[in-house]
Amino acid sequence: MATRANQPKIRWDRMVHFNTSESYSDRRILKITFRVCIGVWLDCARERLQGGGVDLSILQRPRRIRRSENLRRLVRETRLHTEDLIWPLFVHAVDTDHSVESMPGVSRRSLDSLLVACEEAQQLGIPAVAIFPCIEGSLKNTKGTYAHKDSNILYRAVREIKKRFPELLVITDVALDPYTSHGHDGILSEDGASVENDTTVEALCRLAVQEAAAGADIVAPSDMMDGRVGEIRRALDMAGFQETAIMSYAAKYSSAYYGPFRDAVGSQIGKDAISKATYQMDPSNAREAIREVLLDVEQGADVVMVKPAGPYLDIIRSVRDAITIPLAAYQVSGEYAQIHAAAKLGWLDYERTRDESLLAIKRAGADMILTYFAPEVAARLRN
Ligand code: PBG
Repeated sequence: MATRANQPKIRWDRMVHFNTSESYSDRRILKITFRVCIGVWLDCARERLQGGGVDLSILQRPRRIRRSENLRRLVRETRLHTEDLIWPLFVHAVDTDHSVESMPGVSRRSLDSLLVACEEAQQLGIPAVAIFPCIEGSLKNTKGTYAHKDSNILYRAVREIKKRFPELLVITDVALDPYTSHGHDGILSEDGASVENDTTVEALCRLAVQEAAAGADIVAPSDMMDGRVGEIRRALDMAGFQETAIMSYAAKYSSAYYGPFRDAVGSQIGKDAISKATYQMDPSNAREAIREVLLDVEQGADVVMVKPAGPYLDIIRSVRDAITIPLAAYQVSGEYAQIHAAAKLGWLDYERTRDESLLAIKRAGADMILTYFAPEVAARLRN
């Protein structure tokens, strides 16, 4: 190795030094570069000539199995079935239906109309409905005490459905937001500065037991309070409802996609109020979803849910891989509204987008999907 002292002085204008004893003149470097370039160019040209049409040596041709509808049917990995669907329905204590503007085709239904929908669900083969009550403003208060009134529209509806359609599964929401004047899922602290966890859990336990007593097959806590699944399980068991299942909204995000639902049940949160982000999950977080889900599984959830669905496919997939119990996904009101709005503007094909949105949720790993599209998709699947 040449040391600094005995290294030859490099004259960049005349030569290139390669740190060996050899030096090349400019002319020689140019010559070599030229030869290399010509060589590469010739190789490329030869390859192109060969690839021009007939003589590709491709062994793997994935298109081979996409050639016809029957081939595609044969190799299809994911299918949507009617038995994957859960139909969310709104009921109010009024004799007429009120359509929800931001959710085309969805109404707050009278009890009679709700029963008509349940009959339709049964005829279509939809296994379950999820019932959400819309409570008149004057019956709401800060603690949501109307939730415990046995004559409220939710319990009346559940009793009627189970009487008429005993086979149809009824899922009820366990949360206080339909009943609270401030629209929160729980009870506020004395100073009104936060949604109190433990007092809310107590109220939720009562609510869940009352729903089970009315005949709900599955209670679905959607409130995101800590420790509620275990407490609800204990409360149900103590009241003799060991068979009532819990579908927990385990990874429920604080999402803008719930907007149309809040119009539907009239549970809009005031602008200056406490944010639901103090209990629902931050949309930035994925690992935290696994933590929430595992806690609910440990506490006795029978089914866990990810919500919303479409914008959270990564969460659905990682939850699916982390647990063995069934997984539900809720395609929420905003996802439904989005597809309707774009289709109305003529910007998206309504049916194809609808079906693709559900298929994607299933492919991500959901075993069942709560969706407002349920009846029309079930009707399409039947044909
Ligand atoms: C509230 C509840 C919400 C939804 C289901 N249960 C809204 C919220 O958390 O504010 C949303 C469903 C939808 O948007 O379709 N307990």
